[in-house]
Amino acid sequence: MALLEIENLYVRFDTKDGPIHAVNGVDLAIEENTIIAMVGESGSGKSVTALSSVGLLPFPGKILSGKVTLEGINILKLGAKELRQIRGPKIGMVFQDPRASLNPIIPIGTQVKEVLLAHTNMTDGQAVEYSLKLMADVGLPDPGKLLAQFPFQLSGGMCQRVMLSIALALKPKLLIADEPTSNLDSTLQAGILHQLKKLKEEHGTAILLITHDMGVVAQMADSVAVMYGGIIVEQSDSLNLFKKPSHPYTEGLFKSLPRLDDPEKRLATMKGNPPESGALHDECPFISRCYKVTNVCRTSPKPALRSIGGNHKVACFNEIQYD
Ligand SMILES: Nc1ncnc2c1ncn2[C@@H]1O[C@H](COP(=O)(O)OP(=O)(O)OP(=O)(O)O)[C@@H](O)[C@H]1O
Ligand SMILES: [Mg+2]
Repeated sequence: MALLEIENLYVRFDTKDGPIHAVNGVDLAIEENTIIAMVGESGSGKSVTALSSVGLLPFPGKILSGKVTLEGINILKLGAKELRQIRGPKIGMVFQDPRASLNPIIPIGTQVKEVLLAHTNMTDGQAVEYSLKLMADVGLPDPGKLLAQFPFQLSGGMCQRVMLSIALALKPKLLIADEPTSNLDSTLQAGILHQLKKLKEEHGTAILLITHDMGVVAQMADSVAVMYGGIIVEQSDSLNLFKKPSHPYTEGLFKSLPRLDDPEKRLATMKGNPPESGALHDECPFISRCYKVTNVCRTSPKPALRSIGGNHKVACFNEIQYD
């Protein structure tokens, strides 16, 4: 049994402008001591999958069906109190919108300290001392001053690092980190990535790392899940995925990246638009942009994620073949 298992997850937002089908059947297993990167274009459902997995789906989001189990316990069936006990010591989170997960009217220092007091045996004084160290460890400048500041006085990137410092302190079994370094300069980014790797290596923490940055994927991930149109279209260990992308979407995603060996080469742009999320489509979400489309794609329900050898899985009828 994996540490976290997401099975057949469907999520819809019922907005005043109509429904948005954000997640349309995600299956993902996350093992201990593994970093899984989740990639895919904007709006493909990465954050909604992550938020749903920790019981923090915002209104008007609704989980239509599916199961998310952490060590065998279905998180989606837990009440607010039980969820609070799991978040922090078992699941740490660094969200893309970090202000939403920090209390706006409580100073940063008090928030970090209270988490430490709730989950460790520290005294008040020790918790303050340790908060200062944690903030310095994630590269936050002048932690002493930060302790008294409120979330609105910090940038989004700084709030994310506050959340990360909490996660690093509690050493959770699972850390969900949604774009944790996208607003940071490269020195700070390297420091944060180093901390994440250390957390995995020293404590066996599993990390779901959502990122747009393929450099970060290559450097950090054991395995990569590629999302498109609310589903995972391909998953593999990272080296294999870079060498043998098998879903036409993954291939297109990699083609659009700059290359060191040929930086002048024009980047390929993918023709067409992302799938329309207002209706739930039965067929493959990539059908309108795919150059490998055949009749079977048009006449069949969307293909399931299936193994094409080892731990490489793809949801495509006409996947790219390599010999
Ligand atoms: N609070 C919300 N209300 C309504 N729709 C939402 C809400 N949050 C997300 N969505 C919709 O759900 C879909 C998936 O969004 P999600 O935030 O998961 O994308 P993402 O893959 O994380 O994108 P990005 O890379 O830009 O962060 C999108 O169509 C988005 O507009
Ligand atoms: Mg997102």
